Amino acid sequence: MHVRHATIFSVLLVLFMLSVIVTQKPLFPTRSPPRLINHVNGGCDYSDGKWVRDITATTTTYGEDYPFLDPGFRCMQNGRNDSSFRQWRWQPRHGSCHLPKFNASDMLERSRNGRIVFVGDSIGRNQWESMLCMLAAAVPAGSRIKEKFGKPLSRHKGYLSMVFADYNLSVEYYRAPMLVKVDRLPPTSDGAIKRAIRLDVVPRHAARWASADVLVLNTGHWWNLHKTIKSGNYFTVGDRFNVTTNIKEAFRRSLQTVKDWALTNPRLSKRGHLFFRSYSPSHYGNRTWDTGGSCTDQWDPLTTSTSERDQQEHSWINTMISSVARSMRRRHGMNKDAVFLNITYTTGLRRDGHPSRYREPETPSDAPEDCSHWCLPGVPDVWNQMMYGHLVSMGFDMGSINR
Ligand SMILES: *[C@@H]1O[C@H](CO)[C@@H](O)[C@H](O)[C@H]1NC(C)=O
Ligand SMILES: *[C@@H]1O[C@H](CO)[C@@H](O)[C@H](O)[C@H]1NC(C)=O
Ligand SMILES: *[C@@H]1O[C@H](CO)[C@@H](O)[C@H](O)[C@H]1NC(C)=O
Ligand SMILES: *[C@@H]1O[C@H](CO)[C@@H](O)[C@H](O)[C@H]1NC(C)=O
Ligand SMILES: *[C@@H]1O[C@H](CO)[C@@H](O)[C@H](O)[C@H]1NC(C)=O
Ligand SMILES: *[C@@H]1O[C@H](CO)[C@@H](O)[C@H](O)[C@H]1NC(C)=O
Repeated sequence: MHVRHATIFSVLLVLFMLSVIVTQKPLFPTRSPPRLINHVNGGCDYSDGKWVRDITATTTTYGEDYPFLDPGFRCMQNGRNDSSFRQWRWQPRHGSCHLPKFNASDMLERSRNGRIVFVGDSIGRNQWESMLCMLAAAVPAGSRIKEKFGKPLSRHKGYLSMVFADYNLSVEYYRAPMLVKVDRLPPTSDGAIKRAIRLDVVPRHAARWASADVLVLNTGHWWNLHKTIKSGNYFTVGDRFNVTTNIKEAFRRSLQTVKDWALTNPRLSKRGHLFFRSYSPSHYGNRTWDTGGSCTDQWDPLTTSTSERDQQEHSWINTMISSVARSMRRRHGMNKDAVFLNITYTTGLRRDGHPSRYREPETPSDAPEDCSHWCLPGVPDVWNQMMYGHLVSMGFDMGSINR
């Protein structure tokens, strides 16, 4: 439980630490043609649109009782008494951009003998768990789904690899909140320096990401002063410490490292489908996580994203991530386009989808609310649905690759 708390707390800490940038949303004429962000096989821009209430359709295919869910995401078991947050589907703005329903049998067939790998922070884990459940909903009860090395799902360090034996498919999660390597250091005499964030080195287990067929990277919530310098985590390049507090420069450097790594991995650049998931906004109202920020008792999605804070929180992070994805287009050596999976606007509207006060059992009653992570089933299901839409439009099919 402690690790879990630490994780949640760390993510929560981000909010008030991020630097303030005032961004101007670009003004698009209302009748502008669909913007195709990635230009992949006519792939669509799912990023803009609205939430539509949908109580008749089975918008959720799995339940909170699925064994792959962290206790902290089981909001109703934790006391939330309304399931309204599950009764919404995402409708992209542009009519020509149809967001296909997530067809789990289809996804399983396409992924046969493959590896789907999620890498990132605890919100990446949130998405990984959603994917596991969505896929598991389509396999016969009692079908064999097991952690490859027998590790318990309660483990929050290192990695977990869930194998769908009937499909020889593994769906994996690697914890790497900053995407680059973080080394714990021997204690210094004054205890000031605890870890080195190695901006020019990918984590050791990156060797395993490289052979993924679908690789979904995410980062963002840890790139702030609190999680770095103020917690004794300093940046290094080579063997030199760099006491810069320029988080943005450090972030840019780390993304360059990830990009170079991806481009120099022949298998990934030839065969892999690479996604950079955008920032997942939090909702602490007008407050911060540690000053009583709350998202409890929100019943409906917002219709427009109005919060200045929400915009500030992620705009520079998204700008950098999307520019890295863009710079990895085919002509730069990737066989497939890297996709910037832009879930930020969609997600920013869903202040009703967080665990809020209904956090994992045994959370002290005076603990801050969790308005960063997501109840499951819930919002991350739609991220996976969008990813599925992209994969389908790119013709992802392990069978045709292996033939
Ligand atoms: C993400 O999508 C939203 C909604 O379409 C858009 O306003 C925003 O500019 C996009 N972000 C980036 C970095 O492209
Ligand atoms: C549900 O919980 C809210 C508090 O979050 C309470 O006001 C409401 O009465 C409860 N409704 C039911 C049907 O128990
Ligand atoms: C889902 O995919 C399977 C396998 O490709 C197909 O047989 C089935 O008709 C699809 N279901 C829907 C509802 O599209
Ligand atoms: C299972 O998938 C792996 C790739 O993840 C592949 O190397 C192996 O040959 C597959 N096994 C079978 C029996 O097809
Ligand atoms: C420290 O990092 C900053 C930001 O990345 C960079 O501008 C600066 O040149 C670095 N200094 C040294 C000594 O490496
Ligand atoms: C935030 O503050 C504004 C202006 O004071 C107010 O109109 C709005 O309702 C507040 N939002 C929340 C979620 O408390």
